[in-house]
Amino acid sequence: MITAVLVGAGNRGKDAYGAWALENSHRLKFAAVAEPLTARREAFAAAHGLPPERCYPGWEELFAAGRMADICFIATQDRLHTAPALAALELGYHVLLEKPMAVTEADCRRLVEASEKAGRQLRVAHVLRYTRFFQTIKAAVAGGLIGRIVNINHSENVSYWHFAHSYVRGNWRRADESSPIVLAKTCHDLDLIYWLIGAPALKVSSFGGLFFYRPENAPPGAAKRCLEGCPHLDICLWAAPRIYLKAEPLLQIGTRSRYFHNRLLAGAALRCPGLVNGLGRLYSPLKTLGNWDQWPVSTITDAPSSREAKLQALREGPYGRCVFFCDNDVNDHQVVNMEFAGGATASLTLHGFASSEGRWIRIEGTGGTLFGKLTTEHQEIIVYDHHQVRKKLLLDLDLDLRGHGGGDEGLMESLMASLDGASSSPEGPEVLTSARASLESHLLAFAADRSQHEDRIVYMDEMRHSACHPEHLACHPERSEGSLEK
Ligand SMILES: NC(=O)c1ccc[n+]([C@@H]2O[C@H](COP(=O)([O-])OP(=O)(O)OC[C@H]3O[C@@H](n4cnc5c(N)ncnc54)[C@H](O)[C@@H]3O)[C@@H](O)[C@H]2O)c1
Repeated sequence: MITAVLVGAGNRGKDAYGAWALENSHRLKFAAVAEPLTARREAFAAAHGLPPERCYPGWEELFAAGRMADICFIATQDRLHTAPALAALELGYHVLLEKPMAVTEADCRRLVEASEKAGRQLRVAHVLRYTRFFQTIKAAVAGGLIGRIVNINHSENVSYWHFAHSYVRGNWRRADESSPIVLAKTCHDLDLIYWLIGAPALKVSSFGGLFFYRPENAPPGAAKRCLEGCPHLDICLWAAPRIYLKAEPLLQIGTRSRYFHNRLLAGAALRCPGLVNGLGRLYSPLKTLGNWDQWPVSTITDAPSSREAKLQALREGPYGRCVFFCDNDVNDHQVVNMEFAGGATASLTLHGFASSEGRWIRIEGTGGTLFGKLTTEHQEIIVYDHHQVRKKLLLDLDLDLRGHGGGDEGLMESLMASLDGASSSPEGPEVLTSARASLESHLLAFAADRSQHEDRIVYMDEMRHSACHPEHLACHPERSEGSLEK
């Protein structure tokens, strides 16, 4: 039995790690929780059977009580990762740290050094590496199915409503409160590209901006909040009641399933939510379909099944704001180009306008082409071998409702296996997403952000603080604008 403490009983702490422990109570047991919000702290304590003396209002109080478990899960917001992670390592905990590991390059490095000095695992929650989808792609590439990688073309297509939830109205809307979106969101994708290519990056360039979710794009007469008599309420794609009360975009995913029963249930919940919710008394999964109480609704209120609580959140909270009148500043689209040691190149596109959420990847190799499509409703990987010019289907799955398409579960399985095996080496072969391995993707994100804002190519040497490239302006301020590479 592995024992754990939790710092931050919010969405990830409670619904990903806490939920896994409840489902696998013979393998993982939480011994304490640190969470300042009383309702969240008490709910976690009740679910996990924690006595009051094992419930703390913050990480400082938890760690002041000494080490009381094997591993510490840190699921606080982006800007509150470094201090608790360093303290946990100092006490001798293994640490599972949410991504991004930190919001500055210096803090990322401090974390890597601290974990290696402590000889403890510091694992970053790059959950996508653990999905069946990306594991299959990695195995195909490693097995030589497409020869040597020449180029990766990867896109992260965030749906218009998810984007609005997290990056316009929600927690990651402002870079100064969380982190730039290229770090907060696409550190996963940069990590995957680096992992698949298997070589460090040499150069990065990036462009992007906030294209759409701004006041000048509001339709005429739009209200500042959806429930303040907005004349566009019935037709607006981003209308808060449509997303949080009716869960329309989520149920629409079900209506695109290839399986009849999924389409039937989602269609019924869209048309007759009351009936479906009522039938939920006989068959509990229907209850959620008729009255959505999971993410993203669970983010806006701590009582997600109460219609009154949801309405109150939309009247008073950030998620009831018009998407054109928020205080958001993170990019809603960005491209990143990269060149890696050995000569392979990659391009990454991020945007917040997809109708079907997911990631698409196309890998060109010297011997074949791999196409992968990981969306909320379908997963598919196809390889074309140049010799045979035949299509090989490596994966073909319907919607996977598990957290991050099975990535959360994969991460937990891998973590438990490494702790059960008493492997404390941060560089152990099973530790797929060690802090050291994750450092590269974070440096890539910082480089992309710097490239966009300074309008120049960023040489990765500069990020690694080794040799400085002659074109690096921070090291060579005497160089004129004319020397900038675009
Ligand atoms: N791995 C992934 O794919 C993935 C997905 C979503 C979010 N995340 C990351 O997970 C992290 C948490 O996100 P979330 O959505 O769960 O956030 P959240 O806001 O729901 O939860 C964070 C919790 O930390 C608590 N907290 C604040 N100060 C604290 C303190 N001093 N001590 C202890 N707890 C404290 C907050 O009260 C809150 O309940 C973020 O960094 C986010 O970027 C990762």
